[in-house]
Amino acid sequence: MAMNLPHRVRVMDVGPRDGLQNEKQPVPAAVKVELVHRLQAAGLKEIEVTSFVSPKWVPQMADNAEVMAGIHREVGVRYSVLTPNLQGFEAALKTQPDEIVVFGAASEAFSQKNINCSIVESIERFAPVVKAAREAGIAVRGAMSCTVGCPYEGDIAPERVSYLAGLMKGIGVQRVDVADTIGVATPRKVQAAMEATLKHFALNDVCGHFHDTYGQALVNTLAALQMGVWNFQSSVAGLGGCPYAKGATGNVATEDLVYMMHGMGIDTGIDLDQLIDAGVFISEALGRQPNSLVSRAVLNKRSV
Ligand code: HMG
Ligand code: MG
Repeated sequence: MAMNLPHRVRVMDVGPRDGLQNEKQPVPAAVKVELVHRLQAAGLKEIEVTSFVSPKWVPQMADNAEVMAGIHREVGVRYSVLTPNLQGFEAALKTQPDEIVVFGAASEAFSQKNINCSIVESIERFAPVVKAAREAGIAVRGAMSCTVGCPYEGDIAPERVSYLAGLMKGIGVQRVDVADTIGVATPRKVQAAMEATLKHFALNDVCGHFHDTYGQALVNTLAALQMGVWNFQSSVAGLGGCPYAKGATGNVATEDLVYMMHGMGIDTGIDLDQLIDAGVFISEALGRQPNSLVSRAVLNKRSV
């Protein structure tokens, strides 16, 4: 079977944000900064650092400005932050992110639970944020949650994804994440969500964001790769989950994603050993083992 897989992929680590936002124990800003430093040293060129959301909703991200200020930035690395509204954007702007992220959902119920408004209202809130960011020369990404399944509504039809992608395109969002927030997707469903998104965004501007709750994240990644998608998001040490998606576990571990890509001869620009060390660093800070089979296998091999 002939497959035109990409020769390289761009991996964005979302662990400092999507991963740590779900941790109940407060993680010191210095640890978050150190994690970002270790990720960039391992070769990550895109890092989702934090979010400028309400500290009442997500206390772990309350140190957003401190974390952004603490990073020694590397040329060629893109640092992004989440901004749900103008208040968040104005606070974020002061910290000079390279990219801001507005985040919506393909599911009405999840939109309400996560950002306290309907899909249409969310777009009305995002529009001035996108405009202000573009005027300030900051790139804009749109995260689309629940593109396959929703913890409150169940299955989500691809038409809902296409609808949201069209709304995001309409307000000037430059690229989008197709997220399986609760990790229920399987390959054909991911391809349907991707196809729905590709009606509005170019292949280069679509990113796969898969959670691994049901252990499907890597096969879903492969399904997207087979369509030519070459941007993916993952969390070092498999950190995370979403506080408004009960029971959903972390993103696919960056270590697992990188191992798969390298094994397929696909370039990531990432040093797997250094990445594993970054995962050990943050896992030790949280008092646990990295949630990555690749990390565990490599660590076992190192210790013999
Ligand atoms: P709201 O209560 O409707 O907002 O929340 P509001 O405008 O009515 O304001 C209420 C209070 O919040 C006010 O404070 C505002 O100042 C404050 P008070 O007067 O009560 O003291 N406030 C803010 N504070 C700081 N930064 C802000 C901000 N905005 C208002 N930006 C809001 C609406 C969106 C703020 C709230 O629902 C919220 O913060 N939600 C955060 C949800 C979140 O972070 N979820 C996780 C990220 S999404 C995700 O993980 C999915 C993703 O990974 C993809 C995937 O896997 O699906 C991206
Ligand atoms: Mg997520």
